Amino acid sequence: MKNFIKLISIIFLSVVFFGQKAFTEESKKLLSTDWSFKGYFGKFDRASLQRGYQVYTEVCASCHSMKYLSYRNLAEEGGPEFSEEEAKAIAANFEVIDGPNDDGEMFTRPAKLSDKFVSPYKNDKEAIASNGGAYPPDMSVLVKARSGGADYVYSLLLGYEDPPAGVTLDDGVYYNSYMYGNNIKMPNPLSEGLIEYNDGTIATEEQMAKDVVTFLAWSAEPHLEARHKIGFKAIIYLIILTILAYLSMKRLWSRIEPKV
Ligand code: HEC
Repeated sequence: MKNFIKLISIIFLSVVFFGQKAFTEESKKLLSTDWSFKGYFGKFDRASLQRGYQVYTEVCASCHSMKYLSYRNLAEEGGPEFSEEEAKAIAANFEVIDGPNDDGEMFTRPAKLSDKFVSPYKNDKEAIASNGGAYPPDMSVLVKARSGGADYVYSLLLGYEDPPAGVTLDDGVYYNSYMYGNNIKMPNPLSEGLIEYNDGTIATEEQMAKDVVTFLAWSAEPHLEARHKIGFKAIIYLIILTILAYLSMKRLWSRIEPKV
């Protein structure tokens, strides 16, 4: 029996060890940066969120929808925290179809805070047809949907390379060292100085990638800060409770004579 347990544990450990090794060898190590929102006390960097929205709307939004976000989310606590006026002005730049009016006609009007982010395409089919047969995924929760999360999307954005010698790519296919299979049908969306940040930050590729991924991490988990706050309070509460329990135990047992 003992030998059997030994054997089973050796098999188990080697599977875990070699399995992990094989996995790390196969996939390239992801790039990372000093994310403000990682760790137990992590918070989103407001300025980065606002810049990230700018990158999304000026660059990514021409292909990727974010249909679970509303313009009012941009002004909510824990998010980019644009002022309500700013969020209204942002919304008003977009047109939505509404109606029918009293004559039974649909009409377009500027978006309001309560409207969802306007999508670049009418439907998925149009999105696929416009992108050489590949579907640009909705980005509302994309950071959560990919293993590697923020680091993965950050790496992907900075992972465009010339294909290695001997590899030829079809038209509309690009080489990216972090994409599964290395072939991606999204052209490199970022280039040095592509946008002019409203706050004057220099728009390097790394900066834009960091900001847009921060924005996407927030959209995938808008309550992260609230969750961290609750976690922190719960820990303080438990510490106080432990101290009280300890003190009352001391007191209760103090009446009992120790046996010598
Ligand atoms: C010209 C259109 C276009 C633009 C602009 C664009 N994308 Fe994409 N994106 C695509 C397409 C198409 C795909 C699907 C690629 C595939 O499946 O090969 C994609 C896929 C992705 C993926 C998923 C990769 C995966 O693991 O499946 C991420 C993440 C992504 N884009 C992020 C971004 C970000 C961030 C921006 C803005 C900085 C952006 N994209 C701008 C077209 C675009």
